[in-house]
Amino acid sequence: VRERTLIAVKPDGVQRRLVGQIMQRFEQRGFKLVGMKMLQASEELLSQHYQELSRKPFYPTLLYYMTSGPIVVMVWEGHNVVRTSRIMVGGTNPSEAQAGTVRGDFSIHISRNVVHASDSVEGAQREIQLWFHRKELVDWDCYN
Ligand code: CMP
Repeated sequence: VRERTLIAVKPDGVQRRLVGQIMQRFEQRGFKLVGMKMLQASEELLSQHYQELSRKPFYPTLLYYMTSGPIVVMVWEGHNVVRTSRIMVGGTNPSEAQAGTVRGDFSIHISRNVVHASDSVEGAQREIQLWFHRKELVDWDCYN
């Protein structure tokens, strides 16, 4: 089974020119990029993406942050990519994220934690469908 996950570089990550370094980590680990785009997310899309968080006290701050600038949304494919990506990204709260993880290396505050990674295979499927049209995802293999 080809597992896929949604990774997004959040506005602070784009602003700080971290997109390349973040992508490099996924490429060097061996995952395959099958979709990517840059966009300024609408509140409507984000409210669907974060539907489970709508009652949280930090929800308005989260939406404000996520609409504050462009984001880069990617789909990565590979063995156990959902779980491995969560480990590579590090804990939600950068204070607790281990060094060597994206958040552990590049951030200090939970409300500006640089990157998003789907938290489960089902969540990934839902998020990929939300952010990408089928035809925006590329099935490719290169053996030559
Ligand atoms: P992420 O796990 O990608 O998706 C939910 C986001 O909500 C999370 O990253 C944080 O950016 C944000 N978040 C979670 N908890 C808090 C909090 N206590 N205060 C501010 N933002 C939060």
